[in-house]
Amino acid sequence: MRKFYQFAFIILMSLILLASCSQDSKKYRIGVSQCSDDIWRDKQNSELQIGAYFHDNVELRFAAAFDSDERQIQQIDSLVGTGIDLLIVAPNQVSTISPAIDRAYDKGIPVIVFERKTNTKKYTAYMGADNYEMGHLMGEYIATRLHERGRIIEVMGLKGSSPAIERHNGFREAIAQHPGIQVVATLQGDWTEPTAYNTVKQWLDKNKGEKIDLVFGMNDRTAMGARKAFEEAGSVMPLFCGIDGLPGENGGIRLVLDSLLDASYIYPTHGDQLLQLAVDILEGNPYEKETKLMSALVTQDNARVLLMESEEIMRQSHNLEQLHEKASQYLDQLGNQRTLIFVALAAILLLLALLAGIYMYYLQRARIQDERMLMEREQLDFYTQVSHELRTPLTLIQGPLDQLLRTNDFRGASDNARELFSIVRRNTQHLTGLINKMLDAQVGTPIQEMTSAQVDAITVSQPIANPAAVPEQDEDAPTVLIVDDNADIRTYLRSILQGQYRLLEAEDGKRGLELAREQVPDLIVSDVMMPVMNGLEFCQQVKKDDISSHIPVILLTARALEKHQIEGYESGADAYITKPFSPELLLARIGNLLHSRHQLKDLWGMKPATGTSATPSQDIAVASTPIEDAFISRFKEVVVERLSDSNLSVEDLAAVMGLSRVQLYRKVKALTGSKPVDLLRKARLAQAQKLLQETALSVSEIAYQVGFASPSYFTKCYKDEFGTVPGEARKS
Ligand code: FRU
Repeated sequence: MRKFYQFAFIILMSLILLASCSQDSKKYRIGVSQCSDDIWRDKQNSELQIGAYFHDNVELRFAAAFDSDERQIQQIDSLVGTGIDLLIVAPNQVSTISPAIDRAYDKGIPVIVFERKTNTKKYTAYMGADNYEMGHLMGEYIATRLHERGRIIEVMGLKGSSPAIERHNGFREAIAQHPGIQVVATLQGDWTEPTAYNTVKQWLDKNKGEKIDLVFGMNDRTAMGARKAFEEAGSVMPLFCGIDGLPGENGGIRLVLDSLLDASYIYPTHGDQLLQLAVDILEGNPYEKETKLMSALVTQDNARVLLMESEEIMRQSHNLEQLHEKASQYLDQLGNQRTLIFVALAAILLLLALLAGIYMYYLQRARIQDERMLMEREQLDFYTQVSHELRTPLTLIQGPLDQLLRTNDFRGASDNARELFSIVRRNTQHLTGLINKMLDAQVGTPIQEMTSAQVDAITVSQPIANPAAVPEQDEDAPTVLIVDDNADIRTYLRSILQGQYRLLEAEDGKRGLELAREQVPDLIVSDVMMPVMNGLEFCQQVKKDDISSHIPVILLTARALEKHQIEGYESGADAYITKPFSPELLLARIGNLLHSRHQLKDLWGMKPATGTSATPSQDIAVASTPIEDAFISRFKEVVVERLSDSNLSVEDLAAVMGLSRVQLYRKVKALTGSKPVDLLRKARLAQAQKLLQETALSVSEIAYQVGFASPSYFTKCYKDEFGTVPGEARKS
């Protein structure tokens, strides 16, 4: 049973492991460090998230530094500490964040720098738009917009951040090409609207009345901050240009469309593309080290179309997010179902294992039981064999001793001799008792207590007839066939039976069967354990054969167990006597069986001479009684058919019935108690009586008709049988 629990435990653990493994294929943890938190960063983060939806093994960890160097450094370090597989970083300023980025890179974590630059080469890939070009194009646009003449203010992005530097450089180089354009002031901002507002407000306060044609804010929020300052100052409103060109309610495209800004420049976020780059690096796919993102100018001319397009994209993104949410729900459900299936599977397997365990347990128990039964049977056979070996010699000591004790020779023996004999006798009985007990202990049931007790009682109390005193065996005495392989037992049985019975002997069942068929004895006494053919089979054969089927069989055996007796009776035995046996019991049993034979005395339905036949019209052969067997019916038929033949002999009858004379004689005698020749004569006389009563034939005619050679012999026989002369029958 312990093995079974070990097995069940292993199955359970394997399934749990399998369930957890299948749920958790290798996940990529990507850290995203944003320098700021604004609508441009929001847009990019959500694009990154959407990109991650296409890779179910990607987990994103976001951090926003709110334009603070210290904060961003600390966030990068802590992201690295959580065990990220890749870092995406937009450094607040070119040089300040580099040490933290280097640390991550040196730990073997791939780094993607995006949108803003660092001053170190320790990064895996860079992705971003060309800020110099953007500044340059904006300079060109402004020159054209102002028709090469005008005064402008430039409001910068955060000092030290790469887009601010590059946009400024591009812008100033473009403007330098247009001498009619004058940059009146370059004010320092930090990408946020309030800073831009404050710095422009301060300048306006200092330069009241100065005419300004255009303000270039380095992003849309900066441009709007400047616009607010101008509005508040109540000055003549210049044009405002910015960069970012975001979609959405407060995005640059809408601001251009609403003429709050004159122009903007789409500063691409491309979060999905960024995520794909990260996955390619993580999965070892080929990737671009430097990716330049394309951009476009937003003006009154294209703002509507761009807004429509970007809103459509936003709508699709929204749909995608919802789809993803649904898919996640389904995946969760699927996961739950899978867990459920694994649990159910585990339960089924455990149940099966349990059933198998129970089955094996019962199988083993049955096997042990079988083995035990086999052992018991072998043991029993052994004890039966031993007891047989002991019982036979015991019989041969105890029986003859009893006989000797009762002979005249012994009556004159000395007291000492008597005492010695009784010691021998007591101890043989004691030995018999011990054998019975030994078998008893083996089987656990009382064995033959009755029989043993009976035997003892009879042996001790009843004197038996002295064999020598038995009258000479007469020819008509019943014949007993003794079948035993032990010559001493046969001799002993002969000594018991010879006075009263004619004896036949056989040393095994096969020979016994031959004798039973040839001689048709009146009774058979047979041993069970014999070579060639054992007593049980012999008994069966005797009972099967038509010739011998009527012969009573007594099984005389050492097999004392109840089940052995049952076997004996099942083979057709009429009695079962165990060794050692009492001669009186055997004689009583034989006598009993012979006397209780159902002999058919009145074979021909003969009536007293004066009686009238109950069935006058019937032939005598038709009269039958219930105990008649097939053999008797056949015999009667044969006799009646040949009744008128005065030369008909018993040999003739036997030949017609396919038997020897002895066989016919013994079988008929056993079944009817009469000799066949007597039965033949009785049949003739019965038929004659019938004819006398029913016909007008003369006595002589009737005598010849029923097979008598002379009427005078007929009359004599008739008188002997019925006590009257034939003529008397006529008279009645
Ligand atoms: C967003 C932002 C944008 C600007 C860019 C420069 O955080 O300030 O408005 O174009 O960063 O890096």
